[in-house]
Amino acid sequence: MSSPKIRLSGQLRVPGDKSISHRALIFSLLTAGTNQIRQLSPADDCMSTIACLKALGAEVIQSQSDGESLKEIVYTIVSPGLSGLMRPSSTLFAGNSGTTMRLVSGLLAGRPFRATLDGDESLRQRPMGRVLQPLASMGAEVIFAKRENYAPFSIAGGKLKGGHFVLPVASAQVETALLLAGLQAQGETVVDLPCPVRDHTRRLFKYMQIPFESGGDLNMSVCCLTAAPPPFSLTVPADISSAAFFMVAAACLPDSHILLRQVGLNPGRTLVLDVLMRMGADIEIVNRGDLSGEPTGDILVRGGRQLHGTTIEGDTIASGIDEIPALALAGAFCEGTFCVRDAAELRVKESDRLAATVNNLHAAGAIVRELADGFEIRGTGGLAGGSSWKSYADHRLAMTGVIASLLCQSPLSIDDTACVAVSYPSFQEDLLSLTTS
Ligand code: S3P
Repeated sequence: MSSPKIRLSGQLRVPGDKSISHRALIFSLLTAGTNQIRQLSPADDCMSTIACLKALGAEVIQSQSDGESLKEIVYTIVSPGLSGLMRPSSTLFAGNSGTTMRLVSGLLAGRPFRATLDGDESLRQRPMGRVLQPLASMGAEVIFAKRENYAPFSIAGGKLKGGHFVLPVASAQVETALLLAGLQAQGETVVDLPCPVRDHTRRLFKYMQIPFESGGDLNMSVCCLTAAPPPFSLTVPADISSAAFFMVAAACLPDSHILLRQVGLNPGRTLVLDVLMRMGADIEIVNRGDLSGEPTGDILVRGGRQLHGTTIEGDTIASGIDEIPALALAGAFCEGTFCVRDAAELRVKESDRLAATVNNLHAAGAIVRELADGFEIRGTGGLAGGSSWKSYADHRLAMTGVIASLLCQSPLSIDDTACVAVSYPSFQEDLLSLTTS
């Protein structure tokens, strides 16, 4: 296939990491005082978390800082402390955000009032039993309003007892929710993971001086907080999940040359880099550093190298779970077979991301086969296009579609791009700033 004419060039700091932003906001409620967060993710998902914080009695103030960048926004969260949190006067609405719903549930499991949580149509289809059942076993009272194990539900915090939880799914959200409950429970709460996941919670606990113990990467235990941790000030690294779209595009588009600055390189998030490098992409990490306890680096991507097939499977899947739709585009561009296995978890994200990715790629001319736990693409060195790409109201699918449209030979229309605001409101502008034809 002939190469697309567009290329990407320039540099960019994509917005702050969404996972770390949710945690910084929610964990600030453990403190009693004034916390400051810089480079917070502007994602709609994080705005849902802020709305929950306010409904629980925290004050959240947004201001401009005269810091490094003139436009830098600082969020100040004044927390009344755990015991000062109040019963919300209406339903806590998590929007599209699974992280908000699961982490806030963990926090509320130990509070002495009842709160109702709900979300949009997509969030109402996502499994909440994986968090709420263990929280109920610790002593929280959970009532499902419509369907067992799904939102909407209400949760009344009880006198929690710790427990030992061996998680059947590799979920950082479930781990974090149980640890938040454990910080309010009598006795020890131990969480064992089946394989490594993003360890933002562990790093932030350390940064905030929240006591915990660990018997290795897959194990964390906490006891009831005896005092509020001190208020903190934190800067959020750029989100590797947002940067991933530009990495894939630049790797596939000849003559591209981009620098993505201060990207979070948490080892539980870097599969996208490992896979692109393994496929032969020209990627270099420079200026490695540390930001508020998280490793960071500038990612340099040069386009034009022939990509080769690879298989992504097993325990590594969790470290790239959100980037697999974008990586599938590199799969269509490669020479050889690109295979994803052990990724059934993608079926319970904001959409069934396995089916959605496969259907869209198939419509765009890729040779692709859906598997129960993944998919297989026979790379043809490009994508034909001339089709329409369905977002399924899923932000990551929409952004994958926008990148696919740059890579296709014939025009590709995308049915809905408004949903990109769920994680990356300025995605289109940022992409435009890097695009040259
Ligand atoms: C997240 C963990 C992952 C990820 C999600 C954010 C987090 O979900 O897909 O986008 O912030 O902990 P799971 O923990 O359910 O795998």
